[in-house]
Amino acid sequence: MSQNRVPTSMHAIQMENYGPPSVLEYVETKAPEAPKKTQVLVKIAAAGVNPAEYKIRRGYLSSVAKIRFPAVIGADYSGFIIAKGDQVTDFDIGDEVFGTIANVFSGKGSYAEYVLVDTKLDAIAKKPSNMSHEEAAGVGIAFMTTYSALIHGGNLKTDDAAKSLNQKILIIGASGGIGHYATQIGKNVCHAHVTAINSAKNAEFVKSLGADRVIDYTTTPDFVQALLQEQEKESFDMVLDCVGGDEYYQKSIPLLKNSGVFTTVVGPLDLSSQSSHLGYGKLLSFAGRILYNKLLGKRSYTLVFATLHSKFPEFVGYFERKQVVTKIGSKFELKDAAKAHELSESCHAVGKIILTV
Ligand SMILES: NC(=O)c1ccc[n+]([C@@H]2O[C@H](COP(=O)([O-])OP(=O)(O)OC[C@H]3O[C@@H](n4cnc5c(N)ncnc54)[C@H](OP(=O)(O)O)[C@@H]3O)[C@@H](O)[C@H]2O)c1
Repeated sequence: MSQNRVPTSMHAIQMENYGPPSVLEYVETKAPEAPKKTQVLVKIAAAGVNPAEYKIRRGYLSSVAKIRFPAVIGADYSGFIIAKGDQVTDFDIGDEVFGTIANVFSGKGSYAEYVLVDTKLDAIAKKPSNMSHEEAAGVGIAFMTTYSALIHGGNLKTDDAAKSLNQKILIIGASGGIGHYATQIGKNVCHAHVTAINSAKNAEFVKSLGADRVIDYTTTPDFVQALLQEQEKESFDMVLDCVGGDEYYQKSIPLLKNSGVFTTVVGPLDLSSQSSHLGYGKLLSFAGRILYNKLLGKRSYTLVFATLHSKFPEFVGYFERKQVVTKIGSKFELKDAAKAHELSESCHAVGKIILTV
């Protein structure tokens, strides 16, 4: 192991139980152990907040994956390396890095001053110099999911191959963490016509990211009918759903081309309900609905996950070239993580929520 200074204690947001945002306590606790083999120890400058974390905090996923208390949650990070294991060859002490840790249930997360990152298992890349730590901290889960949905698992063409295709994308929830990256990838990488669905207060925001048209779901709840009246039947290559539930899926089918894909990052259950808890019964119906939509749906149906950790270094170019930028809607100090969670679980965050450390 190489190192310049390995701390023994740190400040972190720790939880002893599942529960409301108030279970997130700012404490002094043991720092991660010194990095071994392929690990690096990162001093965190900023951490990204994702809805997955309030779902974990609530215990929403506790029937499938338990965390060991006391737990530090959080996955996305940006900072610099202060120590590394003896098998790390691609990174050096002092490197500014960003990424996301793969095991979101480890209880050794990024809402902290330090995090251990395994360079072979977790997502890690050198931070471009044209990006702040706060912007870099937003990238992790949300961008990886966006890339999975639109490019890796999607049917959309990119770059020169896309220029003459006039692809069309409908993004439901375009102003949030995933939606704001998807709008930019759709416009700047897939050269697509982007229709954004979100509330009117965020219309200018999504237009500034490149959306060609914004429909306010609060005043036009039946936006599909509105589009059909504009002769847009079977004209979309992809519907990207960042909200979940079955209603948007059922409604959107007439908009998709035969070759079009309905891609959801949430799935067929309405997870916005505060009481939602994924017990085994709900899990079975979740899986059954997905299978039904995949096998018997009128169009391709895909549920994507943020699983491309090893591809993370390939994403850096999008940010270096400014094809995609992180828009920070809200920033909180680490000690105020509970406030960040209150905002996240409102389901109306704009761009990314960031914790400064
Ligand atoms: N599958 C995966 O691996 C994966 C990874 C990351 C996230 N996710 C999930 O994906 C979802 C979105 O994540 P995110 O980070 O983008 O969340 P977010 O930042 O909270 O964004 C939520 C978005 O949804 C919009 N919205 C809320 N209610 C809506 C409605 N009824 N109709 C249309 N739009 C609505 C909001 O816009 P307005 O404020 O304008 O209403 C906002 O743009 C979360 O459930 C998250 O857990 C899944």
